[in-house]
Formats: sequence, C-alpha cells, structure tokens
Amino acid sequence: MIILGIETSCDDSAVALVKNGTEVIGSSISSQMHSSAGGVIPEKASRMHIEILPLLVDDLLKRFPDVKIDKLAVTTNPGLIPSLLVGVSFTYGFARAKGLEVIDINHLYSHVYANILEHPDIEFPHLSLLISGGHTQIIKVMSPIEMEVIGTTLDDACGEAFDKVARMFGLGYPGGPIVSKLALEGNEKAVNFPRPMIHSNDYNFSFSGIKTAVKRFIDSNKDVSKEDILASFEAAVAEVLVKKTIKAAKEYKLNTITLSGGAAANLRIREEFYKHENFKFYFPAISLCGDNAITVAGLAYHY
Ligand code: KG4
Ligand code: ZN
Repeated sequence: MIILGIETSCDDSAVALVKNGTEVIGSSISSQMHSSAGGVIPEKASRMHIEILPLLVDDLLKRFPDVKIDKLAVTTNPGLIPSLLVGVSFTYGFARAKGLEVIDINHLYSHVYANILEHPDIEFPHLSLLISGGHTQIIKVMSPIEMEVIGTTLDDACGEAFDKVARMFGLGYPGGPIVSKLALEGNEKAVNFPRPMIHSNDYNFSFSGIKTAVKRFIDSNKDVSKEDILASFEAAVAEVLVKKTIKAAKEYKLNTITLSGGAAANLRIREEFYKHENFKFYFPAISLCGDNAITVAGLAYHY
C-alpha cells in the first residue's frame, strides 16, 4: 500500500510517499520564510502553498516514476484555514483526476504518529506530550487512530510561548530553535520564573503567565543577559511540561511516554524527561518533530 501524503496546515508545504505506514520512499518539504513579519501571515502562507505544492508533487513523482500510488492522504484540521484549504483542494482535485481515494488526516494525530512510525513495536496504550505552535496536550494513545486528550493549554501553546519570547528579543520566527540555541549559553538558575499550574489538580497548562513574567523582567532588569533569561524561561517551561506529564503517566499507569510536535525538537525538554526513572521515553528524529508529510502518509495506512 503506497500512499502520497500532503501537508499544508501552517507554513510548510510537504509531500511524501510512504509504503505500508513506515517505509519512506521519498519526501520533500519547503518551509516558508515569515521571519521578518515575526509570525505567519495566513493569506501570504496560502498563496505560497499554491505556488509551491504542485511543484513539490510533480518533482516527487518524477523522482519515482515507477511507483504506483494506491491512495492519497491530506491534513484537513486543525491548522490555519487558508493554508489547509490549499492542500485539501489540491489533493481532492488530484484524487478525482486519478480516480483515487483520499484519507483525511488530523494534524495532531500525525504529530503523535512520528514516534509510532519510527518504533512500530511501541507499547499501546502510551502517553504523548504534544507540544507545537498551536497546541499543548497530554494525550493517551490507544492506537495510531484512537487518542484521548487528557490535558491541554488554557491559553498559549508551548511553541507559541517560545515564539512570543523570541519576539521580545527581536529574534525572528519561529522562535523555538533560536531561543533554545541561545539558552545553551545561559544560566537557567539566573531568574526564578513562575511554574504556572504545576500543582493544579488536572493535566492542563497555562503559558501566558510565564510569557508575561519574562516581559516584565526584561522591562525592569537591563543587567541580566538575554542568554540567562532565555535559559531560565526554557527551564520553567520544561519543568511544568514534564512534571505534569509524569504525574499523568503515573495516574493512568502508563510507563511509555512520547514527545511530539514541533517543540519536541527542544533538547532541554527531552533532558528534563530523563531525570525521571522507570519510564520508557521516545523522542522523534528532529526531521519528524515539525510539520511534515511523512507522518501524514504513514498514519493514513492505518485507516
Ligand atoms: O508542529 P509545528 O512545526 O507546527 C505547528 O503545528 O504549530 O511546531 C512549530 C512550533 C513553533 O512554535 C516553534 O517555535 C516550535 O515549534 N519549536 C520549538 C523548537 N523548535 C521548534 N520550540 C522550542 N524549542 C525548539 N527547539
Ligand atoms: Zn504541527
């Protein structure tokens, strides 16, 4: 079963051919540049998808002329509507022309699938901490296509908090990679930022308070280095995320934990997990943390 996957949920146009859920035949991705604007402009993003997506598909199919596609798969939600519409319209048009079936893919499920694709023998049920630019969720994963959200952010998403803090320092978009790089040079004990909801009696998160605390601190303390502030911010986020995930894992009696979503690339958060013994942790390859079409085509095999 060979599936052509298409992903345009935000600012990455991506295509991939995957066999039987795990075997990557070929893929490509084109990431848009929204750095100067400090964030993604939805209309601009959709216009860029329109230009690039047909070229990516064309190029991929030319690279593998002997591959016979059995089905198509496309991310349908959640995401930026103008961006999603480009992928969905293209895929359904292409499918109609070729007489092929389309599998609709939930963007969050495809993020979680990254770990399953890399470790098909992973234990079910397991727990996944999904951290991206739009979501922060603790998810009980019963199978590749059955998931239950047990906690979520009440305001900003984890990646969004990194993006907003990066903007305070004029570091461009996306903020996560540059913030975590600069944080490596800083002292994470320099500033004791709040750990919102760390002791709350649920598995929800809140990141807007940390973000505001960072803003206030920057405005009133000019003598602390950017690196120290970023390292302290990152440590606060990592501690809250990991403490609550471990608490959920204990309560739900799940000892396999995966990290997924764009911010799963963060090494400090990964390190925080390793402070906890008696759990099996899975972290995706960096290339499968962010938006991509490999996990879209892979997950579609399970429907
Ligand atoms: O999953 P993704 O590619 O797109 C969404 O579905 O949102 O995630 C993008 C988010 C951005 O907010 C970006 O700043 C964040 O992931 N991110 C990171 C890191 N790399 C990417 N956040 C923290 N640390 C990183 N190393
Ligand atoms: Zn995503």
